[in-house]
Amino acid sequence: MTNGDTPRTTKRIDDLPIRDELRGKSPYGAPQLDVPVRLNTNENPYPPPEALVDRIAERVREAARDLNRYPDRDAVELRTELARYLTRTAGHAVTAAHVWAANGSNEVLQQLLQTFGGPGRTAIGFEPSYSMHALIARGTGTGWISGPRNEDFTIDVEAARAVIAELRPDVVFITSPNNPTGTAVDAETVLALYDAAQAAKPSMVVVDEAYGEFSHHASLLPLIEGRPNMVLSRTMSKAFGAAGLRLGYLAADPAVVDAVQLVRLPYHLSSITQATALAALEHTDTLLGYVGRLKSERDRIVTELRALGYDVTDSDANFVQFGRFADSHTVWQRILDRGVLVRDNGVPGWLRVSAGTPAENDAFLDAVRELKKEHDA
Ligand SMILES: Cc1ncc(COP(=O)(O)O)c(C=O)c1O
Repeated sequence: MTNGDTPRTTKRIDDLPIRDELRGKSPYGAPQLDVPVRLNTNENPYPPPEALVDRIAERVREAARDLNRYPDRDAVELRTELARYLTRTAGHAVTAAHVWAANGSNEVLQQLLQTFGGPGRTAIGFEPSYSMHALIARGTGTGWISGPRNEDFTIDVEAARAVIAELRPDVVFITSPNNPTGTAVDAETVLALYDAAQAAKPSMVVVDEAYGEFSHHASLLPLIEGRPNMVLSRTMSKAFGAAGLRLGYLAADPAVVDAVQLVRLPYHLSSITQATALAALEHTDTLLGYVGRLKSERDRIVTELRALGYDVTDSDANFVQFGRFADSHTVWQRILDRGVLVRDNGVPGWLRVSAGTPAENDAFLDAVRELKKEHDA
């Protein structure tokens, strides 16, 4: 029987013998809709420049000649270049021994939870925050604890310390800048939570700095010095404009890098991925130029939304959280009706828009201006 002739079963997911904690759950799913202006997944709107496309083609061509062989399992050249990038831009010298890379920072986070979480263990995040932390916890059998935030979306340090002392999680996620709020976390708060986590367990503290390059503040990378249980997670999906590449990385004490190798799949990072990431790193300066543009567009969106009378959370990322709406989903739909896709993260009263090109941002601002006029009329 050919594949085309295979009869479809009528089984649904819940009829399968899946793990109990997966029953009735939905997968991660930001809508991928075909609309003129897509500002919903915090992508970088600038495609790679032609010179980089050419360099990727060259590097991939070279890698293709060895495609009969498995890739460098330890990705040493790539980790060396990532370490060089961090040393140059994030305020602290690291080497390849401090850096580990995987297919997107989601895979880095998954490897961390496979190593330090798992059945019988728990992780905490301060919500609203990046929804994949809880989903990856679920996927790895790690219990999830939803920690508190203040009204203004900053972390309530005292409440956070108390919950860490009481529930003694094995992994503490601190997202700075936070997604979806855009809120940066200061070094004092991170240190207070690290100390609380060490006193309680000790546990691993994972600082997710996926949007670090867009922040008004310095990277939290220097905090890993002398703190073997602290990990900084980064990605090339945002600042490097390479979401399609799937390349994330961490920086931590070399022992953490050794530990995640206990769970990583052998040859997890393809030679094509490694070649492409190395090409992108050669073009760091050009790509960081786009970050500068995006930061000023982000600041323009904040200013214009506030001038229109919206509430806007201070943003250190490449996106802006705005509100407040009695019914945010209806507003999301009305913006979509005008050809602009923003994100309804399920934070009651708020929506999130990613900073796009100036023309995309104008289209978004025009759409919300029209809504405002209709509402005021
Ligand atoms: C806070 C945060 N961390 C991690 C990621 C995952 O990024 P990637 O797997 O593309 O590196 C994202 C993606 O949106 C994010 O918002």
